Amino acid sequence: MGINRPVYAASAAWRGFFVGGEMTTYESHILGHREFVGGEWERVGRLMFEWMLREGLKPHHYFLDAGCGGLRCGVHFIPYLDVGHYWGLDKRQWLLDAGLECELDAQARAEKQPRFIVNAGFDLGAVPAGVAFDYVLAASLFTHLRQTEIQHCVEALLPRMASNGRLYATYFRWAGKSEPQIIAGPYGELYGPELDEDWFAGMVQCLGAEVEPVSQYGKPELQEMLCVRKAGGEGGSGNRVGSGC
Ligand SMILES: C[S@@+](CC[C@H](N)C(=O)[O-])C[C@H]1O[C@@H](n2cnc3c(N)ncnc32)[C@H](O)[C@@H]1O
Repeated sequence: MGINRPVYAASAAWRGFFVGGEMTTYESHILGHREFVGGEWERVGRLMFEWMLREGLKPHHYFLDAGCGGLRCGVHFIPYLDVGHYWGLDKRQWLLDAGLECELDAQARAEKQPRFIVNAGFDLGAVPAGVAFDYVLAASLFTHLRQTEIQHCVEALLPRMASNGRLYATYFRWAGKSEPQIIAGPYGELYGPELDEDWFAGMVQCLGAEVEPVSQYGKPELQEMLCVRKAGGEGGSGNRVGSGC
């Protein structure tokens, strides 16, 4: 799991170890929350943080860390953002707990009051109506979701984004030569499904948003990065219902 794709996809040890799906608490302690999300803890977390800064993130923005895991990225964003402006969403409580207990500075947690939501359906019902996310980061999330889940994720998140909000997501590109590759992960989860960019752009357009080009973010050798910009911002093209949606 995580950004460094070939390692875990090929690991027979992982497959044997996690036969049967979700890890138990015991297993997760052996593996550790850092390795569970792909390792490269400091490098990836800092890379994502610095990327968001270059893309214009400021402390006053509301930020959603979609699939925040053990806070590999969160430990950088939480101290930077204003009080209550970091929101983390994940489906694994144990991973989040590990991040809070082992990774996040206690003072930063107390001072910045990050908010967390745990569910697998991208349900943001717990977010107050007055909060609209300026930036959403899905780091190594789409790389574990089926196409239908990615669509559901974007459908759920877009309405909770600011009018000029952007969603950044890393993904594996589908080259279009054969069927998109889908590998069953070692703990009841997909590993590395490839994204059909044409399908994604069309789906996003039907939701009244658009995919924007993204400049080099520093790790293209492993995962690509895309940006979804909500219509209503500058250059937004509006809903294309009636043109193939
Ligand atoms: C490779 S990890 C990346 C975690 C974090 N973004 C990072 O870069 O360290 C993928 C994360 O997505 C979470 N995830 C997978 N499917 C999810 C879903 N349907 N809803 C919420 N979180 C999900 C996993 O629990 C895991 O924490």
